[in-house]
Formats: sequence, structure tokens, C-alpha cells
Amino acid sequence: MTALTPREGRVNRPERLENTARLIPGGLFIVFEGIDGTGKTTQLHLLAEKLRQRGYAVVSTREPTEGVYGQKIRELFVDRGAASPERELELFIADREQHVRETIEPALADGCIVICDRYYLSTVAYQGANGIDPESILAKNKDFPVPDLAIILEIDPLDGIQRIENQRREAPNTFEKEANLQKVAKIFAAMEQAYIQRINGSGTIEEIHDLVLETVTRVLARKTGRAAAAAG
Ligand code: TYD
Repeated sequence: MTALTPREGRVNRPERLENTARLIPGGLFIVFEGIDGTGKTTQLHLLAEKLRQRGYAVVSTREPTEGVYGQKIRELFVDRGAASPERELELFIADREQHVRETIEPALADGCIVICDRYYLSTVAYQGANGIDPESILAKNKDFPVPDLAIILEIDPLDGIQRIENQRREAPNTFEKEANLQKVAKIFAAMEQAYIQRINGSGTIEEIHDLVLETVTRVLARKTGRAAAAAG
């Protein structure tokens, strides 16, 4: 197998823009966060579909990406001991740099709603649980675009593990072990950024979707109201 250079690696590509789409000046950046097994991927897809129905141009994407660094990260899922905590952190940051440059920033500049499955708060929580100071992780992420909204879906870590086992019929990987997820959940719970909204993830898919939509609609109204005001 030939090694890919970062330039050749594929990150998640934005979809083609419909020229009839409702665009938002500067875009809207929404991220889904939380421990494994909260159902955030399901919620992300439902939200993306609903926003597309409303006519918005939506780019849904995720981290780790499919790019060269994302692939290296996925190798770590199998054998986490293969990299030091510092090296692991570096890989997530390198993956994000490429993702922001190639996917997120261009889509926001086009006026899209970008919905990302995990972003830097995951790094703060997971690499923080892996022994690195959460504040220093946040500092390393300070040059990346700040989300307009981070939805943290919250569930009990034991329920998360149960869901992973039921859905995938496989044992949780090292990122997903209970003791680790308890630490991750604790760091997520302590976050205080103004753009965070916490939603209880233990209801039905429809109930949670309604709460997500309500939150997004509010943030969207605030952003587009502001954009309309700025346009005069
Ligand atoms: P996940 O969203 O569960 O991906 P998939 O649906 O492909 O399994 O993310 C994979 C794992 O990566 C998850 O356990 C959390 C971890 N992770 C970090 O440790 N740091 C990060 O910065 C990110 C983005 C993810």
C-alpha cells in the first residue's frame, strides 16, 4: 500500500450546492458532542434532512475524517497503546486542521449550514480523559472556527456502552470502556462555553429530534436576524 501525503488524503467532501438553496452569510456551524452511544449520529442525520427540507444548503461531516490523519486515528481504535497520549492529540489536531481548511471553512464561506459529528470539545474531553490537561487542549484548538452551537447529548455512560453493544454486536473499543467514558462524561459536564446546549439523550429518537430542532431553530433565527440586520 502506498502512503498518502496529507495533500492527497481525502477529508469529508462538501456536497454540490443547489443554486436555489437558502444561504446564510458566513454560514452556521453546528457540532454534535457527547460520549459514545448517545445517538448523536442519528440525530445529526435527522437534523440535516429537516434543514434541507427547509431549503438550506447543509454540509454534514464528521471527525475523525476519512483523511490521512483520520485513517491513522482509526488504527488507534484497534490498538490505542500504539501512540502516546501526546501523539494521539497531535493526530486529532492535524486531522482537524485539514478538515477545517478543506471542508468546514469553504462551506461556511459559501453560506451553508455545517453540521459536524464531533469537533474540538471531543478532543478536550477524550484526550483530557487520557491524561492531558483539558485547558491546554482547548488552547491548542483556539485558532479553529468556534461553533455557533454545540449540542452535547447526555446519557449515563453505562447506557451508552449498552447501546454500542446492542447496535454493533461488538465489544466497545478502548475509547469506549466504562471507566474511560465516565471520565470523558465528567469533562463534558464541566464545560461552560456559552455556545453549548445540553440535551438529555435518554428519550425517544423523535423526542430528542424535537428538542434538537427547537434549539437549532432558535440559534438560526438569532444568526439570520443578525445577518439581516447587518445587511441593512
Ligand atoms: P465516533 O464519533 O464514535 O466515530 P464512529 O462513529 O466512526 O465510531 O468517534 C470515534 C472516537 O474518536 C470516539 O470514541 C471519540 C474519539 N475522539 C477523540 O478521542 N478525540 C477527538 O477529538 C474526536 C473528534 C474523537
